Amino acid sequence: MSEVDLTVHLTPDDIVRGLRSDVRTGLTATPKSLPPKWFYDARGSELFERITRLPEYYPTRAEREILATRSPEIASLTDATTLVELGSGSSEKTTLLLDALRQHGSLREIVALDVSESALRDAASALASAYDPVSVHGVVGDFTQHLALLPGSPVRLVAFLGGTIGNLVPAERAKFLSAIRDVLDDGEWLLLGTDLVKDPETVVRAYDDAAGVTAEFNRNVLHVLNRELAADFDVDAFEHVALWDEKEEWIEMRLRATRAMEVHVPVVGLTVSFVEGEEMRTEVSAKFREDEVAAELADAGFTLKHWWTDEEKRFGVSLSQAGAR
Ligand code: AVJ
Repeated sequence: MSEVDLTVHLTPDDIVRGLRSDVRTGLTATPKSLPPKWFYDARGSELFERITRLPEYYPTRAEREILATRSPEIASLTDATTLVELGSGSSEKTTLLLDALRQHGSLREIVALDVSESALRDAASALASAYDPVSVHGVVGDFTQHLALLPGSPVRLVAFLGGTIGNLVPAERAKFLSAIRDVLDDGEWLLLGTDLVKDPETVVRAYDDAAGVTAEFNRNVLHVLNRELAADFDVDAFEHVALWDEKEEWIEMRLRATRAMEVHVPVVGLTVSFVEGEEMRTEVSAKFREDEVAAELADAGFTLKHWWTDEEKRFGVSLSQAGAR
């Protein structure tokens, strides 16, 4: 049996402290906002899983199509010995990459980073048995904070999939991509999934599905605040809003207060008022164009080497290399 080693950079205590600080900042700002990372408690992760199976939510299927087709090519292009997966260790999309790397004969190590220690433990031990004798390191951490501390030896391939980079605004993306660049040696690799700009109706539908799963997912952040911070949000008094920002080329999810109300968040000592119709931003999900992805990668010190899309050109996966052309 192969071993799993786990490094913890983020304790449950750190997580609650981060939540408190984000809530203090976000609920006292104008307009109010909450960062999307707080959607993902057990129920939120389950709701997101359901979203990925919705007919309207194309990104997961489109990215899977690309990886199913291109993984063998990615393995031979990179010769990667270590796959570093940021954000999750359990996705079936990672399996496509890992199978290809194993088949190619280069795979020695897997590093999986996630904020949830329990999810990571399960994912890491599943990976360890599936890819025995490959060694598996779990890192409990936040991909925006703990990149400098990643284990794994060259040649590393860092995978950041799902289009999650779209949750970051441009300045945050620049910082994040530079931080990845900084941990890599010249010649190491980044595989990045980016949802693409397309007709707004298709995008809006993906974030405002007929079955209302995304609406539930969006409101879930209020359940998280009620539970973790003893807040008293009347969750049903908020409605889901998904709108396309033409200028920024991102989807914005908001929660709209359907009546005026006061909400108490005792753990951070806040009383927050909402006016009727007030909207609080809970997520941006940016959509990209190829030239823009290449430019952002170049600014961070990467060279885009390959760009693949699904058949319908809905989603892009880029393979780029740290350093020189
Ligand atoms: C998991 C961040 C990629 O932005 O599409 C799904 C989250 N939000 N539906 C995305 C999400 C609303 C998703 N990511």
